[in-house]
Amino acid sequence: MNVPEPLFTGKNTIYFQQIDSTNTYAMDMISKTNPPEGTCVRTDYQTAGKGQIGRYWQSETGKNVLISYIFYPHCIKATDQFYLNIMSGLAVINTLSLWIPEVKIKWPNDIYAGNKKIAGILVQNVLRGTQIKTTVIGIGINVNQILFPADIPNPTSVAIETGKFADLEKIILWLSAGLEHQYFLLKKHSFDIMKMDYLNHLYRLNEWATFCTDTTGDFIARITGIDAQGKLLLQLENETTVSFGFRELTFKI
Ligand code: BTN
Repeated sequence: MNVPEPLFTGKNTIYFQQIDSTNTYAMDMISKTNPPEGTCVRTDYQTAGKGQIGRYWQSETGKNVLISYIFYPHCIKATDQFYLNIMSGLAVINTLSLWIPEVKIKWPNDIYAGNKKIAGILVQNVLRGTQIKTTVIGIGINVNQILFPADIPNPTSVAIETGKFADLEKIILWLSAGLEHQYFLLKKHSFDIMKMDYLNHLYRLNEWATFCTDTTGDFIARITGIDAQGKLLLQLENETTVSFGFRELTFKI
């Protein structure tokens, strides 16, 4: 397969052998300067890699993709910011599908190969009034790491899934091109297309499964979609539909 040539995404790359977090660096950079759109910050190792909900992202030196991209989606309303999660989830899925047959997006935007997490995404938006001023899309993909610390829940990597080491540079080129493609769709407000694509790749869509919240304990339901704000819609056994925001719901394996 021919490696794509993105127009601007990833063209300006800032590389560090080691840094605290590429997202932290990118957020700090946009607060002080005006880097060109599509600028990315890359590293081989993060000393304080950030995950969602205040978690850490751990990754062995030089084995994986650790990258943060900067975009200025001024035309997107703050109320539509979930589409930045959709954009990044689809870009990662489309990239990884070139290496692994079955990859899914676990709502909101964890990337799964089978029942194991292969990539994580941390989107940090800066708002100006009702619009989005800047977004930093931080992506960690487990590529060539084989052994993981015991405290990381169900991890996997491209090498584990395929039995072969993969070329990080190639993955990053496809990722940059994929993000750029999704960004063009986003700027055209092609929300219906993006949402449909997202739902087509959604982990456990329409499957009855066990979920859990702090208030309800375990319950059985099936995912039927997402609402306009990106909240997850679940149909309960009594046929009623309930919605959950991020942090409110746990998937039970
Ligand atoms: C998650 O699944 O919790 C999100 C993980 C996001 C990790 C990436 S690695 C590159 C970028 N820099 C960070 O500090 N975090 C993101």
